[in-house]
Amino acid sequence: MEGVHKHYCILLVLLVIIVGAFPFCSSQTTRRFQFNVEWKKMTRLCTTKQLLTVNGQYPGPTIAVHEGDNVEIKVKNRIAQNTTLHWHGIRQLRTGWADGPAYITQCPVRGGQSYTYKFTVTDQRGTLLWHAHYAWQRASVYGALIIYPRMPYPFSAPIQAEMPIIFGEWWNVNPDEVEKIMMLTGAGPDSSSAYTINGLPGPLYPCSNKDTFIQTVEYGKTYMLRIINAALADELFFAVAKHTLTVVEVDAVYTKPFKTTSIMIAPGQTTTVLVTANQVPDSTGMFVMAARPYLTSVFPFNNSTTIGFLKYKNARSQKGKPPVDLSSLQFHNLPAIEDTAFATKFSDKIKSLASPQYPCNVPKTIKKRVIIAISLNLQDCPAKKTCSGFRGKSFFASMNNQSFVRPSISILESYYKNLTVSSFSSDFPEKPPNAFDYTGGDPLTQNMNTEFGTKLTVVPYGTNIEIVLQDTSFLNLENHPIHVHGHNFFIVGTGFGNFNEAKDPKRYNLVDPPERNTMAVPSGGWAAIRIKADNPGVWFIHCHLEQHTSWGLATGFIVQNGQGPSQSMLPPPQDLPSC
Ligand code: C2O
Repeated sequence: MEGVHKHYCILLVLLVIIVGAFPFCSSQTTRRFQFNVEWKKMTRLCTTKQLLTVNGQYPGPTIAVHEGDNVEIKVKNRIAQNTTLHWHGIRQLRTGWADGPAYITQCPVRGGQSYTYKFTVTDQRGTLLWHAHYAWQRASVYGALIIYPRMPYPFSAPIQAEMPIIFGEWWNVNPDEVEKIMMLTGAGPDSSSAYTINGLPGPLYPCSNKDTFIQTVEYGKTYMLRIINAALADELFFAVAKHTLTVVEVDAVYTKPFKTTSIMIAPGQTTTVLVTANQVPDSTGMFVMAARPYLTSVFPFNNSTTIGFLKYKNARSQKGKPPVDLSSLQFHNLPAIEDTAFATKFSDKIKSLASPQYPCNVPKTIKKRVIIAISLNLQDCPAKKTCSGFRGKSFFASMNNQSFVRPSISILESYYKNLTVSSFSSDFPEKPPNAFDYTGGDPLTQNMNTEFGTKLTVVPYGTNIEIVLQDTSFLNLENHPIHVHGHNFFIVGTGFGNFNEAKDPKRYNLVDPPERNTMAVPSGGWAAIRIKADNPGVWFIHCHLEQHTSWGLATGFIVQNGQGPSQSMLPPPQDLPSC
C-alpha cells in the first residue's frame, strides 16, 4: 500500500513540475461569448437615439481571457444592416478567417445571421480592444479585450484594482449617415458631438453631469488603467490631475516602465498605465482625469474635452457627484492641442521591455523595403456632378497614390480558393510613383488625382519586410495612426521631414524598439516599421482615422503559406458568411 502511495506522490510532484514549467500546456481553456449586435435606445447630451451596440451595452462587453486560451465569440446580427467584428491586435495565427475586416477576410454577417469567431490567444498579454469593422459601426460598437498573463507581471507594484478607460466619440446623429454624406458629396465629415470615457461624456458637455465616469480609489494604493482609444477620428492626450502615470505596456506588449504626466494615444492604440493614489485630496476628494485631441489636421474637428474623476475613498463626499466647481481643471496636466513636441517626446520614451523572458524579436535584416507615401488627395469632380470638397473637388486619401477600394467578395476567400474572378491584384507599388519633397511641397499644387484599385503586396512566409510610412504635405501634414492586421511590428526609426534611405537606417534602434499593432506616424515625418511576415493570410493595413479609410488610405499584404501545416492557413470555418 505504502509503495503505491509513494508512486502517486512522485507522480504528483512530477506533474506539478511539468505543469509549472509548461504553463501553456496546463490548461487550454475555451472561453465562449455571445455577442448580439443590436440597436438600443440611449441618451447622451439630451439626445435620445437608437445606438448600435453589442448586447445593449455601451461600450460593449469586456472580453477577458488568459494567454493561451481558445476564444469563441458567437456573433448574432440582429439588425437589418450587415456587420462584422474585429479583435484589434490579436495575431490570429493561421486563423485569418476570424480577423473580421469586411471584404478583406470575410463577407459581412447579414441581418439575422450568425458567425462564430474562433481563435487562440498566443504569446500576447495586456490590453487590446475589439470593434465593428463594417462601415462606421465602430463608432459605438467597441469594447475592451484583456489578456491576463500566465506569468506574474514584470513590474512589482501590487495592483489594488484595474479599470478600463475607453475613449470613444458620441454622435447625436447616426455616424453611418455622416460617412454616406461625406462619400456622396466629396466633402469632409462632420465631427462627433462629444468625446467619452467609458461611454460617458462628463460634466463639460450639456446635460452630462450624471453621465460622468467616477472611479473610487484608496489612498496609497496603486491602480492599473487599461487605456484604449476607440475614437473614430482623433488622437488624444490623457492625464490625471496631479498624478503621475507609469506606462508598463502598449498594444499588449510590455514596455520598459517609464513615468509621464500625460500620454498621447492614437485611435486603435492601447496603453496600460499604473497610477498610485498618493495625493492629498481637497474636501471633494476628486481629481480630474481628462482627454482631449492631439490634432494636426486643418479639417474642422471636435476640440472639446471629456473628463471623469478619481475619487478618494473616505474624503468628505458629495454623494458621487462631480464637484460643481470645476476649477480643479487647471491641474489636468494636458498638453496643448497641437503639442507635437510632447507627442514626439512621449512616443520616443516607449521601448520594448526586451528581457530574457519577454525578448524583443525585431528583424535585424530585411528582405524588402517598401516606401509608402501617405496622402490626402483632391480628386477632380466627375463631369455633370457637383463636389463639395475644397475647390469644388472631392477628398480622397491614398498610399502611394493608390486609393484602396474594398471589393465585393472577400479577398481572403478569393485568394484561398484561387477564384478565377479575383477581387484583388498583387501589384501594389513599392515606392511612391514620383519622388518629390514629400513634406515640404506646396499642399495644393503637388496634389494629384489618386488612382482606385485593390492592390496588395504578396510575400513568402517568413519574409522580413520593412515599411517606411512617409507623411506628405498634400492638403496638410497630419499624424496618421497606421494599423497592421495579423502582425505586430517594430518601430525601428522615426523622424521629421523626408526619409533618407542612405542615412536614416544607420540610426535605427534594433535593440529595444517598441512593438505595436498601430503606429502614429509623425506629422510631417516618417516611421520605419519592421514585420516578420509569419502569419499566412490576407492582412489589412490602414489608417485608423475612419474617414481616411473610407477615402482609401489603406492597402494590404498577403503572406503565403510556408512549409507544413504549422505554417499554413487553417481551412475556412463552416459558418463563414458568403457574399
Ligand atoms: Cu482596429 Cu482594421 O482595425
